[in-house]
Amino acid sequence: MFYPDEIVEEVRARNDIVDVVSGYVKLQKKGGNHWACCPFHNEDTPSFAVSGSKQMFHCFGCGVSGNVYTFVMKYENFTFPEAIKLLAERAGVKLPEMEYTEEQKQKANHRTRLMEVNKEAATFFYYQLRSPKGTVGYEYLKKRQLSDETMKKFGLGYSGKSGRDLVAYLRQKGFEDKLICDAGLAVVSERSGLVSQFWNRVMFPIQDINGKVIGFGGRVMGDGEPKYLNSPETDVFDKRRNLFGLNFARTARTGNIILCEGYMDVIAMHQAGFTQAVASLGTAFTVEQAKLLRRYTDNVLLAYDSDGAGVKAALRGIGILRDAGLTGKVIDMKPYKDPDEFMKALGKDAFQERIDRAENSFFFEVRILQGQFNMNDPEEKTKFHREIAKKLCQFSEEVERDNYLQAVAEKYFIGVENLRKLVLTYAVQTGDARPMERPKSGIQRKNTAEENAKKAQRLLLTWITDEPALFAKIKKFVTADDFTDEIYRIVAEKLFRDMEAGIYNPASIISTFEDEETQRAAAEVFHTTLPKLDSRQEREKALHDILLAVKKNSYEAVSARLGSDVSALTQAIEGKKALEELAKTHISLADVK
Ligand code: CTP
Ligand code: MN
Repeated sequence: MFYPDEIVEEVRARNDIVDVVSGYVKLQKKGGNHWACCPFHNEDTPSFAVSGSKQMFHCFGCGVSGNVYTFVMKYENFTFPEAIKLLAERAGVKLPEMEYTEEQKQKANHRTRLMEVNKEAATFFYYQLRSPKGTVGYEYLKKRQLSDETMKKFGLGYSGKSGRDLVAYLRQKGFEDKLICDAGLAVVSERSGLVSQFWNRVMFPIQDINGKVIGFGGRVMGDGEPKYLNSPETDVFDKRRNLFGLNFARTARTGNIILCEGYMDVIAMHQAGFTQAVASLGTAFTVEQAKLLRRYTDNVLLAYDSDGAGVKAALRGIGILRDAGLTGKVIDMKPYKDPDEFMKALGKDAFQERIDRAENSFFFEVRILQGQFNMNDPEEKTKFHREIAKKLCQFSEEVERDNYLQAVAEKYFIGVENLRKLVLTYAVQTGDARPMERPKSGIQRKNTAEENAKKAQRLLLTWITDEPALFAKIKKFVTADDFTDEIYRIVAEKLFRDMEAGIYNPASIISTFEDEETQRAAAEVFHTTLPKLDSRQEREKALHDILLAVKKNSYEAVSARLGSDVSALTQAIEGKKALEELAKTHISLADVK
């Protein structure tokens, strides 16, 4: 971690979570918690709870959890250092200066300078567009129906007809030639020395998620080649890891992100109010970009061109999204080529309808597949069905696979049982998916032993944090080592150590984890829904069962290591004894709440 633990804890302790959260969402006190509609998913009835005593938040709807750092990181889409800066400032805590090595300093310095020179260049282009020399550019953008406001929001500009003005401007601002070249803004020409890379183009500054200019796309006004000229990759311009428009889209909170192909598409979409639109940077959509999107949504809508190339790109994009664990849907743009043209022709209400009707990516793939076969020819039709069966094997989860199977069978008039048999054949042949069993009615996903074990561990930790008095009663039966899940074990270790010392501070445990994902998993531990039990007998029985489950699982985990680990044997013997003793022991809750 960047900052010393004490500082992290001090900043956290000085920022009451109820105060901080109420600065963002309206909270209502009910019982021990403060409630609101969750800012991280769409809902009408509040299931987002903030606990003043635990100094944590939890949404019972979507499962997000954490302390005040996690909240700020999630809400503002901040990294941890950004979150601690904001909170330190809010509470008037001075953060220590961080120490860097000489090399780190130089690298950071170079990056900073690159962003500075880009920013100055953007300023130059911006004013060019609004000067008499820039009339051609301004007229072009007007013709493309962009409002002044939109041009301003995206910082659009114009690179003049002279190759030297930009260079002269940047030199006068104190930037050395090497830096200007490093940023890809100018190149050395044998005849004229340093000249601008962009010439007579409308300029689209490309910003990172924090709104810093990292590069440019420049479009010719009319038909010239290349249509777009983009900055080359630099230390700050990584085309695989950035998306045009994400600096705005990340706070759109629409529950989805719309992925387009072009800059103009994104701009037209934002102008129409779809501020969740983004586009890749003149290159195909990448795995890194999918991972980046996953920080903000799990629902991505593709608004790709409706032509052949667009369909191909969409098919590729769907695969990448799927691998990243994101749900992809495809927006139908027909009869228009792209979102920009669609918006001009039919407007935003019609586009919203298309969003609502976006096609599930699996059905999109099948529909495109169908186009490759002649459905009037029985042989071709069979081939098509076989391809569907192969595709269905991609779903490793049985329930999901069968749901898709039924839906696709109905849509394409294929006998469900026949398709099932076909899938079975492929599944066995390729080993892609396990053979499918006939689903029973009212099927439910079966909990695995591991999930059950984790659940018991979570329940126990929540219970102890809810009723700290419990700790004294159970500490002789469980230790942190009984928690087989890595994160839970670390949480238990810290929690038990604190409680042993008479400290109750669960929220501080969360910020010892570095990334948001782990913080969330750790925080979940404190927010399991405990069974609603009225009588003391019921509570005692439930606690006993949970303890026993945790202990039994821990014993089994140790036994499984027997043979590979010498110390496991002693642990196993002890574990077995403890388990037997616990089974016989009655833990009274008479004096606990
Ligand atoms: N692109 C590029 N270089 C090119 C052509 C395209 O980098 N020579 C990238 C740009 O990021 C562009 C995207 O591919 O935004 C989509 O290209 P295209 O559909 O041709 O352009 P549009 O965005 O639709 O732009 P316009 O509406 O101005 O034609
Ligand atoms: Mn276009």
